[in-house]
Amino acid sequence: MLDATLNVFRAVGEETRLRIMALLFRGELTVSELTQILGQSQPRVSRHLKILADAGLVERYREGSWMFYRAARSAAEPAGAVRHLLESLAASEDRVVARDRDRFTQSREARARIAAAYFEKNARDWNEVRRLHLPESDIEARMRDMIGPQKAALFVDLGTGTGRMLELFADLYEQGVGFDVSRDMLAIARANLERAGVAHAQVRYGDLFSAPIENGAADLVCLHQVLHYLAEPDAAVREAARLLKPGGRLLIADFAPHELEFLREAHAHRRLGFSDDEVKSWRREAGLDLLAADTLAPLSGEKQKLTVKLWLCGTPESVRRLKSRAA
Ligand SMILES: C[S@@+](CC[C@H](N)C(=O)[O-])C[C@H]1O[C@@H](n2cnc3c(N)ncnc32)[C@H](O)[C@@H]1O
Repeated sequence: MLDATLNVFRAVGEETRLRIMALLFRGELTVSELTQILGQSQPRVSRHLKILADAGLVERYREGSWMFYRAARSAAEPAGAVRHLLESLAASEDRVVARDRDRFTQSREARARIAAAYFEKNARDWNEVRRLHLPESDIEARMRDMIGPQKAALFVDLGTGTGRMLELFADLYEQGVGFDVSRDMLAIARANLERAGVAHAQVRYGDLFSAPIENGAADLVCLHQVLHYLAEPDAAVREAARLLKPGGRLLIADFAPHELEFLREAHAHRRLGFSDDEVKSWRREAGLDLLAADTLAPLSGEKQKLTVKLWLCGTPESVRRLKSRAA
């Protein structure tokens, strides 16, 4: 215990490491992002991160060639004891900490701009890109099965893209709204919905992290092939949960963990899929239970290498309703 306590105090007893901790309380970062924000060399930043990880203050996980770092969630003692202090530092108005915070925000915005530029560029042939992964018709049929015939008064599609989910589920809601930060995507979505005669859905420009919808208004929310572009997928799940009525449900469709590194470069993916455990920790933090899950592996012998995962989550009330329907 004495050694471990000393390790923790040594780890945090240095300015750069305190700055790193303050940043990691804001969100997970890669070494290269930290390097840019701190203005220090990569080997130095890596050395500091190793010391923080050895002291149990930082968690890291590798995904392809990228290593992500974040503040340890449930740090065991003695690391847990300094957590409160570090959180206060992260929120403080100290000059250096505040400057790092601004740079953190700029770094996030720069990443979002890269993704947005990608979507603007690909908006017109996005449906072609989607077909590269798996037969959409199979996935869509499974999603409809999973949701069932229950009609939603309000359906919200976060990161709506070409509006495909609004079109697919058009007979399953009374009013639908989709949000996206790409105006090109929205223009295509509007044209698609009009062509399909879907008059009870609208698409609007808006960031999915702050959808202009009041708490507890939606019966069904969808995050279809969106989370792997985001730096904070957990925050997106929390925001989706905020929108749900008691009894409301959230459908997440994304990839299982994979190794197709080129998707980062060529298609602006940040994350190479998600495990069941990761999604479980996010939905739990957001207060949601799992109602159903499905795995759509590619057909053997096909060139497609991506497995699509579906997770249907719901508020505790939705679980109660599901059980009483089954009884
Ligand atoms: C791969 S597309 C998926 C579109 C749609 N959900 C579908 O499956 O057809 C991802 C979409 O998420 C949008 N997006 C990314 N970050 C977003 C954000 N922060 N807020 C709203 N939309 C976002 C992109 O502009 C893009 O249209």
